[in-house]
Amino acid sequence: MASLDIAELIRQAPVRLAPMASYTNVPFRRVAQACGSGFTTNEEIDADAFRYDNQRTLRMARMSPEDGVVAMQLLGCDPEAMTLAAVRLVEAGASIIDVNMGCPAPKVTKRGKGAALMRDLATTATLLKALRAAIDVPLTIKIRGGWSDEHLNAVEVACMAEECGVDAITVHPRTRSQQYTGHAPWAVIGEVVRAVSIPVTGNGDVHSMAEARRMMDETGCAGVMVGRAALGRPWLFDEAHETLSPARRFERERAVIEQHLALIEATMPPHEALLQTKKHLALYVAGRPEARPLKAAIFLARDLAAVRGHYEQAVEGYGSAWIPFPYVASR
Ligand SMILES: Cc1cc2nc3c(=O)[nH]c(=O)nc-3n(C[C@H](O)[C@H](O)[C@H](O)COP(=O)(O)O)c2cc1C
Repeated sequence: MASLDIAELIRQAPVRLAPMASYTNVPFRRVAQACGSGFTTNEEIDADAFRYDNQRTLRMARMSPEDGVVAMQLLGCDPEAMTLAAVRLVEAGASIIDVNMGCPAPKVTKRGKGAALMRDLATTATLLKALRAAIDVPLTIKIRGGWSDEHLNAVEVACMAEECGVDAITVHPRTRSQQYTGHAPWAVIGEVVRAVSIPVTGNGDVHSMAEARRMMDETGCAGVMVGRAALGRPWLFDEAHETLSPARRFERERAVIEQHLALIEATMPPHEALLQTKKHLALYVAGRPEARPLKAAIFLARDLAAVRGHYEQAVEGYGSAWIPFPYVASR
């Protein structure tokens, strides 16, 4: 039995940042939490990295005491590799272990990992039972609606997982075949909610706190994960942000971006810090005035000082006129 009460944790802060490979690392997770996200989930980490001491991948598993409650997400299908990785992560401070059962990338699924776990319930049950026995923190899974339209089994997978001792489930109801296209069929989330008694988090196409509430009302899910809409816009976890005057929003967004850039610089080696700064700044400026030339200049810049120079010049030039932001692709 897990020591941390995950149901209570989700109840306290139901809307939270979704895991996104190469984005939801220490700096962005911390910024999102400071903006109001509930506990966050790290980007997926291949469990084999622990077996083979793959330093590059292991760096992705960085945590820091300031992270608060953090879920570490593992990608894998082999019970031995997965339990080894989970135990190491818990020893290093992970509060929750999450199993990725939704990654649609062929290089992942052809090895039986990610969404492929939804096709092989016997392997998945063995894996989840082994993990349950190996760790005493909450064990969670993140699933899709199924492998394809012909193979929709989110409810079956969720019931099996609950029987194996899984403490909470996140459902991104697109199928593996759908990847990220089309609409996420929220009704599937409701079907899973009604089939299990552990907390279910819904995910897919949520762009605002109002939409998150709507997903909770329509499906009965206990929590909501927001992925793409939070990229370049972590303040969406604070509904009050939208009510600020343009001048106050400008100041706040600028402060959040500054905090993010400072955290990237403080926690990452220089080469990685440069890439991450470019990537996130491009998202922060997307859709704002003069975004295209600014993004081009940011990507061409050779070092952090030059990247920052371009950004600061643009921000100074526009002041609160910089604020108009493309808002919100509503369902
Ligand atoms: C760039 C990117 C990386 C992602 N990486 C992961 C990952 O590492 N683990 C995971 O479970 N889901 C991952 N996802 C899926 C998201 O967590 C989420 O389920 C999906 O984007 C749907 O939610 P959204 O509509 O709010 O973006 C990723 C999605 C994107 C766009």
